[in-house]
Amino acid sequence: MPVLLFLGDIVGQETIDMITLHLARIRTEWGIDWVVANAENAANGSGITPAQFRKLRDAGIDGITLGDHALRKREIAKILDQESTICRPANFPPDAPGRGWAMAKSPSGEVLYFTAVLGRTFMKPVDCPFRALDLILAQPVQNPWLVDIHAEATGEKVLLGQWLDGRVGAVLGTHTHIATSDEGILPKGTAYITDVGMSGPSIGVLGRRFDSILPSVLTGVQQPFEVARGNIVLCGALIEVNRISGLADSIKRMRIPLG
Ligand SMILES: [Fe+2]
Ligand SMILES: [Fe+2]
Repeated sequence: MPVLLFLGDIVGQETIDMITLHLARIRTEWGIDWVVANAENAANGSGITPAQFRKLRDAGIDGITLGDHALRKREIAKILDQESTICRPANFPPDAPGRGWAMAKSPSGEVLYFTAVLGRTFMKPVDCPFRALDLILAQPVQNPWLVDIHAEATGEKVLLGQWLDGRVGAVLGTHTHIATSDEGILPKGTAYITDVGMSGPSIGVLGRRFDSILPSVLTGVQQPFEVARGNIVLCGALIEVNRISGLADSIKRMRIPLG
């Protein structure tokens, strides 16, 4: 059965450089057919630039999802409109650039569609993720196999996962940057995890430097939160895709230290 590696929030340029160095080896080691990654924190922790999009694609990332930071770099709008391998959240306003679904093509040419939605609990207001997903799943073709649920609240993510059980192959959480240990196959066959964790500098605060955050908290004087460096770890999930059932055979939580 083909294998999908999904990576959580890619933070910063250093992580992209490390992915460029190591992804081919990781793909071979685990027999990976597709790599899909959430890259909403690529551009210095917020958004993604067109150059970073191309670098990730060249490094072997087949498909890219985004989250609440999707449009922080406005120059990505053109890429979102033109490229079929990157999507912004499906429940953004209807006039947002790009689409709410995209595709990843394996080296052997097999296509896997994916989508992403934002949660609404403890997050900025967006359209209803349930209705957005219903619309996307009603498409006669290009039906997403993977749903990235980019949300803060665990309860909202679990609810989305159970609601999607049996309708898609995998429902994988991002946004909190911290992995949860609840990975498994839901009763109707969908692979699920509340959050896969981030791909980025593991020493720091969710990818930012401890010493750039603490003074703002202690004094109330705002200062930029700088992206941390070093100790890059890729967090994600490895999923066996069952093309016959359209569901998943297994899910394994991944934590790949790159140094
Ligand atoms: Fe993030
Ligand atoms: Fe996010």
